[in-house]
Amino acid sequence: MSTALCPGSFDPPTNGHIDVIERCLDVFEQVVVGVIHNPSKSPLFSAEERVALLKELLSDHTRVEVGSFEGLLVDYANSVGARVIVKGLRAVTDFDYEFQMAQMNYELANMDTMFVATSPAYSYLSSSLVKEVARLGGNVDSLVPPLVAARLEEKFRG
Ligand code: PNS
Repeated sequence: MSTALCPGSFDPPTNGHIDVIERCLDVFEQVVVGVIHNPSKSPLFSAEERVALLKELLSDHTRVEVGSFEGLLVDYANSVGARVIVKGLRAVTDFDYEFQMAQMNYELANMDTMFVATSPAYSYLSSSLVKEVARLGGNVDSLVPPLVAARLEEKFRG
């Protein structure tokens, strides 16, 4: 069975993330969404919250699993049986860093990375900007799924 790993911070998941994950399902039989657990980055949503959000958002997809990991991405990829890592590329500005990580992951474990060109509608979208807009009271309804918009509202306005 061909399994791809879509890793990320997903703090929070955006429409762009969901788009990349759903497009992976057209190519791979199984998709594992891997949420990094990195407390030193003090995320807005805990790893448990991000996993729970993604599980709910992707609950219609029987071929998707959601988990979290600490440590090396390639170790997690191997532990879930993924042969390839899939990342979304929004613009050329993403490329340098993503290319560097892809080469490092290949060096570490012969783990390949494939890139999905993000839909133009989401090319400007990032979790950081979504958080900033939500924190400052802007409307994020067109940027994130309704569940995430509701959770952001709770986080910032109780
Ligand atoms: O959504 P993000 O923040 O761009 O995701 C980044 C992520 C989780 C893919 C990246 O931070 C990562 O791969 N972390 C694991 C650490 C690791 O394996 N480093 C060495 C190889 S580059």
